[in-house]
Amino acid sequence: MFEDGLLALKPDNVTYEEAAAVSFGGTTALHFLRKGKIQSARKVLVYGASGAVGTAAVQLANYFGAEVTGVYSTANLELVKSLGADKVVDYTKEDFAKRGELYDIIFDAIGKHSKSNCKNAMAPNGQYVSVAGQGVAKVRTEDLLLLKELMEKGVLKPVIDRLYSFEQMADAHRYVETGHKKGCVAIMVGHDREL
Ligand SMILES: NC(=O)c1ccc[n+]([C@@H]2O[C@H](COP(=O)([O-])OP(=O)(O)OC[C@H]3O[C@@H](n4cnc5c(N)ncnc54)[C@H](OP(=O)(O)O)[C@@H]3O)[C@@H](O)[C@H]2O)c1
Repeated sequence: MFEDGLLALKPDNVTYEEAAAVSFGGTTALHFLRKGKIQSARKVLVYGASGAVGTAAVQLANYFGAEVTGVYSTANLELVKSLGADKVVDYTKEDFAKRGELYDIIFDAIGKHSKSNCKNAMAPNGQYVSVAGQGVAKVRTEDLLLLKELMEKGVLKPVIDRLYSFEQMADAHRYVETGHKKGCVAIMVGHDREL
């Protein structure tokens, strides 16, 4: 949740829609990765690596130096690899929890995988964090500034699936509700640019 006073300048090298997309997925991913103790994590698994939160989480976990495994479906393989995932698991073909790998953080970035189903894949002292049921991500100004810096350096790439006009808001919601968007969907407000 954004509170009064939380502000950062938009990086010059991204559009307003891209900056908005990263502000949503990036701040959420940072919050939960920190909660999972990302600074000391060697191996991180991001479940739902192709969503708004997931695409940011893969890139941020990479930035913090972890080996990142992204769980995706076939259509999103190239996207998840392009974000820097070291390893990938197709959830339609394989259960990551049965691969015999252990992770320091399992981050369910779409809130669809239960903690109990992950227990065989947790390293000793490993952390399970999820966007579902663990409170709302707290946004801090320093998080926005870090995201800005990483976008400027090209370390963090915004992923926008579709852009909609304000008038197409209902269509945008319908698309998001399919649960299969890649990264973010953005609404353009007050722009006269053609979509
Ligand atoms: N707690 C908080 O503070 C907070 C903040 C922001 C968001 N959220 C929540 O975070 C969740 C994620 O939102 P989002 O916008 O990032 O993503 P999203 O739109 O919910 O996720 C879409 C992506 O998830 C993938 N996906 C769908 N089912 C999957 C499955 N079973 N296994 C693996 N991947 C799967 C889809 O890929 P395929 O098409 O390949 O299936 C698609 O790329 C939402 O529930 C949102 O409410 C929580």
